[in-house]
Amino acid sequence: ETKPVVAKPVQLDEEFEDSSVKRVTVFFGTQTGTAEGFAKAIAEEAKSRYDSSSVVFKVVDLDDYGADDEQYEARLKKESLALFMVATYGDGEPTDNAARFYKWFVESGEDQQIGLDGLKYAVFGLGNRQYEHFNKVAKKVDEALTQQGAQRIVEVGLGDDDQSIEDDFTAWKEKLWPELDGLLTTEDAPTTPHAPYQAAVAEYRLVTYEPGTKLYVEEYAAKKNGQAVYDALHPCRADVAFVKELHKPLSDRSCTHLEFGIANTGLSYETGDHVGVYVENSQEDVEEAAKHLGYPLDTIFSLHVDAEEGQLLSGSLPPPFPGPLLLETALRRYADLLSPPRKSVLSVLAAFASDPEEAERLKHLASLLGKEEYTKWVVASQRSLIEVIAAFPSVKLPLGVLFACVAPRLQPRFYSISSSPKFSPTRIHVTCALVYGPSPTGRIHRGVCSTWMKNARSKDTYGADDCSWAPIFVRQSNFKLPADSTIPIVMVGPGTGLAPFRGFLQERAMLQESGSTLGPAKFFFGCRTRTQDFIYEEELNAFVEKGITELTVAFSREGPRKEYVQDKMLEQAGEVWKLIREGGYLYVCGDAKGMARDVHRMLHTIVQQEEGVTSSEAEAVVKKLSLDGRYQRDVW
Ligand code: 2AM
Repeated sequence: ETKPVVAKPVQLDEEFEDSSVKRVTVFFGTQTGTAEGFAKAIAEEAKSRYDSSSVVFKVVDLDDYGADDEQYEARLKKESLALFMVATYGDGEPTDNAARFYKWFVESGEDQQIGLDGLKYAVFGLGNRQYEHFNKVAKKVDEALTQQGAQRIVEVGLGDDDQSIEDDFTAWKEKLWPELDGLLTTEDAPTTPHAPYQAAVAEYRLVTYEPGTKLYVEEYAAKKNGQAVYDALHPCRADVAFVKELHKPLSDRSCTHLEFGIANTGLSYETGDHVGVYVENSQEDVEEAAKHLGYPLDTIFSLHVDAEEGQLLSGSLPPPFPGPLLLETALRRYADLLSPPRKSVLSVLAAFASDPEEAERLKHLASLLGKEEYTKWVVASQRSLIEVIAAFPSVKLPLGVLFACVAPRLQPRFYSISSSPKFSPTRIHVTCALVYGPSPTGRIHRGVCSTWMKNARSKDTYGADDCSWAPIFVRQSNFKLPADSTIPIVMVGPGTGLAPFRGFLQERAMLQESGSTLGPAKFFFGCRTRTQDFIYEEELNAFVEKGITELTVAFSREGPRKEYVQDKMLEQAGEVWKLIREGGYLYVCGDAKGMARDVHRMLHTIVQQEEGVTSSEAEAVVKKLSLDGRYQRDVW
């Protein structure tokens, strides 16, 4: 009963072939849990809408759906009705858990004939309009489904997280349900007429234990055939080997350089990869949360999924963490306590408020009518989950509900690795700006991971027994130097966008030492002032002296007017374009919404100017560069 469950593949029970049962598969491609939450919400609503003996909604993680392409294909062909909740991430990419499916179904899709004539489907995308590739993944999945002969039952939904994505989701569902009703209900089994809106409350069965029960201890040494294999579900325990502040004394902000020791772990990485880091909430936040939830921190419990009659349980995802463990540990490691709660969370809280006025207010905030108030009171105020719970003291949440649908799982944070394994084979370097400042409600907001990194105790100073450590894993990226070191490169990375380029430069330095010839390189870096946040200044100057790169720095707050990396690029447009034109590679790293978008526009301008072409011709040139892998972006 208390056997630890980390994550298990969804069982795709073959008993669904029983034709009297109509089956709807709700796929999700999720990064931070929102798409997953939406998928579960649909399954929960379906429970109150349809007769569960004849209609079953099954929530499926795209990663668990098939072990390989053949299995994806075989299973997909058997589906008759499927919903896809898919998020677009970073630079128009699928989420990690959808990556394999996307590669197979969309990217290599055009060459394959899967034949999905028997499939009806709907797609809802989760994206953000501030990014260039708004909902690209949803649009592509929709396109590919149509190409394979499947029939769309409602227009693809384009959720925009810049506004209220839940309202977009609600609007999309309003179109979806009537279509589903038409497909799923018969005269014998009609839909529940005018089913009242019900909060989608998902719940794990809770088992509590006596004090002193042996707790589950997580292991961090996944091995397969004697080889260590690490990924998001099997992270590697890594000590913090070294930490230092990168900003200069005059700066009122902070940026941490941190090195994880990976000697003898079997963990390896490549220049340009990302490291995922699991960190913990602060003790202060954990105690505050437990106080408002009304449970002692030393409560020992575990969570379970109950298989209801005949396994026909919708949304039966495995519990988010193994047990038994202390509430303190669960809150610290697994619960996102600081993000503003979604509307669906407010309606769950309403269901557990004993004071009717509190329940009403929560319901109002969660409703379409309460949109403005929700935006103001929750989103714009950056009110954390803890603060919201504190504001409604009559809410008494069962822990099985808290971890199922109220507190999202604390997500690993990703950083572009700022070292090269050629230079630093036993350490992964991270360059992390501190997130710190007052929120509109007056609470001091401390970024969970950046605060942890800033305060981390290094092995160099505290010794092996007393140093900080974290579960980490490496995520491969396509952000890579050209295989031929003589090919010219142009790098653009202000602020912590510098990170992967420090790795690039280390790698080039090692190549030079081993006798390779280096092509020209230009690095455009940007910061506020030379005396505050010119990070790694000495190292960069040393690279310049050795001829590893040229360096141009845009100081945005030194002169009378702002100067940004793209302004510097324009000043050197002729040289920059010459390098790229001759076959060089252009790399951009950093903030996607502002910097990368503006640099992209500037590239377009430079092409137009240097080639003397029209705007649409310049666009084609830029697009070609990108398709050829010569314009690469690592943006967030
Ligand atoms: P600012 O904060 O003075 O506006 C690293 O964060 C550097 O990137 C800072 O100098 C910052 O300038 C600058 N920056 C901010 N917005 C930018 C944008 N849209 N394009 C390029 N650089 C930008």
